[in-house]
Amino acid sequence: MNEAKNQTYIEMGEKAVSGTYGRYPICFQSGKGMYLKDVEGKTYLDFVAGIAVNALGHGDAKYAEVLKEQALELVHVSNLYWNEANIKLAETLNKVSGLNKAFFCNSGAEANEAALKFARIYGEDKRGEIITMSNSFHGRTMGALTLTGQTKYQKSFAPLLGGVQYVPFNDAQALKASITDQTVAIMLEVIQGEGGIVEIEAAFSHEVKAICKEKDILLIVDEVQTGIGRTGTYFGFQNYGLKPDIVSCAKGLGGGFPIGATLVSEKVAQKLYPSCHASTFGGTALASAAANYVLGEIQKRELLAHVQEMGAYLTEQLQHLKSKYPAILDIRGKGLIQGIQIDDGLPTGKIVENAMTKGLLLVGAGHQVIRFVPPLIVQKGHVDEMIGILSEVLETLK
Ligand SMILES: Cc1ncc(COP(=O)(O)O)c(C=O)c1O
Repeated sequence: MNEAKNQTYIEMGEKAVSGTYGRYPICFQSGKGMYLKDVEGKTYLDFVAGIAVNALGHGDAKYAEVLKEQALELVHVSNLYWNEANIKLAETLNKVSGLNKAFFCNSGAEANEAALKFARIYGEDKRGEIITMSNSFHGRTMGALTLTGQTKYQKSFAPLLGGVQYVPFNDAQALKASITDQTVAIMLEVIQGEGGIVEIEAAFSHEVKAICKEKDILLIVDEVQTGIGRTGTYFGFQNYGLKPDIVSCAKGLGGGFPIGATLVSEKVAQKLYPSCHASTFGGTALASAAANYVLGEIQKRELLAHVQEMGAYLTEQLQHLKSKYPAILDIRGKGLIQGIQIDDGLPTGKIVENAMTKGLLLVGAGHQVIRFVPPLIVQKGHVDEMIGILSEVLETLK
C-alpha cells in the first residue's frame, strides 16, 4: 500500500487534464459489486454509481466477457451499414418503452440534442418553440444547455439557442399561459435529478398530457437519469401515466459503456429522413452489446421488482434517520433515485466529504440535497451500511 499514491495521481492529473471538474481527492483503481477501491487500497461503498450509471455495479465478470466477445467479433461499423447488436437493442428499447423507433448516440446531452432536432423537424418550420421546466437539467452542449432551466449552468455561454421558454416545474397555469401557436414540444424530467430530486405532481402530469393531446404538442421526457430501471419501472414516465412522443436516455443504459438513445413515437418517426441527424459512434456494435447485456440482466435478475423493494427499504431507513436528525427536512424521489433535503445550516458538502473519509460515496444535487443513486444491484445490507455511516457523520456534525 502506497500512502502517497492518491496525491501523486492528483498532481499528475492537475497538470495533464483540463480543469473543467471540481474533483474529490481520490483516484480509483478497481471495483467489485457495490464497492470501489482507490489506488491506496481503501474501499468505498458506492451510492453514486458514476452518477446513476453503473446499473449492475462494478466488476461484473459476465459484462466483461460480453464486451470481450463482441470486441473480437465486431466493434464498429459506420451507420452507413447495419449491425445486429444495435438492431436487437432498438427492438428491446421500443418494446420496454412503448415507443416505436430508436436513434443512437453517446451521451445524455446528445440524446437531448437529437430530441430537440426531432421536435423541430416535427414542427416543419412552422412551429419551433420548446417549453422546458425551470430547475431542469438536460446537459452541457449548447442545445441541451439552452433546454436546461438553470441559469447557473448557462452563464458565460450566451447567446443561447432561440425559441426555448422556461416555466416553473409543476405550475400548470404558467404552462398553459406560455403555450403559443409556435409551441411544438414540452420537455421535462419526471424526477428532476440534478435539480434536487423533485418529482412531477399528478395534477401537472394530467395537465401536460391534456395540453399535448389537445394542441398536438410533443411531450419530450428526459429519462437520462431516471431511465433503465432506476425508478423501479423501465422508464420513469411509466409511473405517471404519461405517453411521451420522445424519450431520451443514456447513463444506466450501457452500465458504464457510453451510449445514449432517443426514442420516438410513430408520428415523430414518420417525419425523420436520412441525414437529418447522425453520429459516427451512435449505436456501435460494442456499445449496443453492453446495453443489450444490461437490459437482459434487468430482466433475468428481475431488477425492476428489486429496485421497487430496495427503494421502499431506502425510504423507510431515511425516514428513521429523519426522525433522529432534524437537519433532514424532506425525503424525496422514487426507487433508487432518492434524496434528502438538508437544512441550510448544515452544508451538504461537509456531509459528503465526511462520509467519503468514512468510506461512503454520496453526491449532492440541487440546493442542499444529498442524492442516493446506487447501482440497481444494491441489497438491504448495503442500505444499512450507508445509513450507519451517514448517521455517524450527522452525529459528529450536530
Ligand atoms: C436528466 C439529465 N439529462 C441529461 C444529462 C446529461 O447527460 P450527459 O452528462 O451524459 O451528457 C444528465 C446528466 O446528469 C441528466 O441528469
